[in-house]
Amino acid sequence: MYSDIKKEFPIFHNNPWLIYLDSAATLQKPQHVIDRVSDFLSKDYANIHRGWYSLSERSEELYWQARKKVAQFINAEDDEVIFTSNSTDSVNVLVWSLIRSNTIKEWDVILLSTLEHHANLLPRQMLAEQTWAILERIDIWDDGKLDVERCKKMIHEKTKIVALTLCSNVTGMLWLDEIKKLVDHKHVKIKHKKIPSSESEVWSLKSEVSFPYIVVDASQAIVHKRVDVKKLGVDVCFFTWHKLWAHTWIGVLRWKKELLKSLTPGRVGWGAIEKVTRESSTYLWSPDTFEPGTPNLVWAVSLLGALEYLEWVGSWSIDAAYSKLEEIEWPLISYCLKEFWELEKQWKIYLLWSKDESNRIGLFSFVTKEIWWLSLWSFGQTFATKDICIRCGAQCAHIFHEGISWESWASTKTGNIWQSCRISLWAYNEMSDLEKFFEELKEIL
Ligand SMILES: Cc1ncc(COP(=O)(O)O)c(C=O)c1O
Repeated sequence: MYSDIKKEFPIFHNNPWLIYLDSAATLQKPQHVIDRVSDFLSKDYANIHRGWYSLSERSEELYWQARKKVAQFINAEDDEVIFTSNSTDSVNVLVWSLIRSNTIKEWDVILLSTLEHHANLLPRQMLAEQTWAILERIDIWDDGKLDVERCKKMIHEKTKIVALTLCSNVTGMLWLDEIKKLVDHKHVKIKHKKIPSSESEVWSLKSEVSFPYIVVDASQAIVHKRVDVKKLGVDVCFFTWHKLWAHTWIGVLRWKKELLKSLTPGRVGWGAIEKVTRESSTYLWSPDTFEPGTPNLVWAVSLLGALEYLEWVGSWSIDAAYSKLEEIEWPLISYCLKEFWELEKQWKIYLLWSKDESNRIGLFSFVTKEIWWLSLWSFGQTFATKDICIRCGAQCAHIFHEGISWESWASTKTGNIWQSCRISLWAYNEMSDLEKFFEELKEIL
């Protein structure tokens, strides 16, 4: 018998032996999302913007409903929510807008951590190349923690962007508190150089926009924690919907309205224009101006379905849904940590990094010398033969893997770690999935 959550996901009915431990790469889809998309395509689908007929109006209405629902979900304004293709695309949209707006200049500094996913790194390398800005890195040492005091010291008047993840896709550690501290530091110290006297003053400082823009990657965090962009006070936040029950190829870029006013769109096309003349054109206001061409209507409806599904989980409260999901995941996380502890003692298998139960999600990357003996590929394959889906590689975080040295935590081998294996869970996983995974791991060791 499947749990109430698991039985909503047809992939498990169609693959009864599946042990899916790769939810951080993409989450499986509940029946409601699949039905919502199929309903839309069979009943309400047409292109939007100036279709003067009911079908087009219904389609446009659903597209806007999706945007409004996302805005409520993250506590943003409707017109601050830009639909993109995914997290990677969101950063590219931001970067091209910054380039076209001439916001970043020669010798300006873009600060980011060594733990960032390539989605949050590569477009910034391009930004630096295009503008002659400098990339500076906050090193993440062998405990996976973000040292807020070091970050504060690294921020100076040339720092224009601080780009950080809210939760690492390698360590599973959440940096929500650390980022809140950085945002407070920015508004209090850098801009106003005074201590706010009340909570409401902190709030009004947080709504203003000033350098450095604090940009956060919420791709992993938002799956497990409610992200309230206003409370967090960050300038830009982005995430990708396929990690949140919806389909692939739809993402969100949310930036503060005040920031929008100073940015020129990096991409242009129909749907975004106000007036076109032979020489030049004028553009609409956000969000249309940042979404040229036919938008991804189908997957926008899929994210609408994803949020309806989440409401259903929490009996119409999103906060209750997150609490319920956390309650389900908690024993699974504890069990994994306990098992990894045992394995470390017995077999020298190492978790990257945190063994803390708090401030983490159910995502664990580990390394062992068997990975080298067997090769990463056959290590993963061994699990695959038992229908256990795990991920092996550099987890789109080459710089982080490059920086980890064996010497710091194991005497067995010297040199750098280039790759790791990762398991990641969600509330449809059951204890038996993990028991089978650890059994197989022990067998290999
Ligand atoms: C932390 C983080 N950021 C960004 C991404 C990129 O997401 P997408 O491939 O949907 O652009 C991922 C995907 O694994 C991720 O884990």
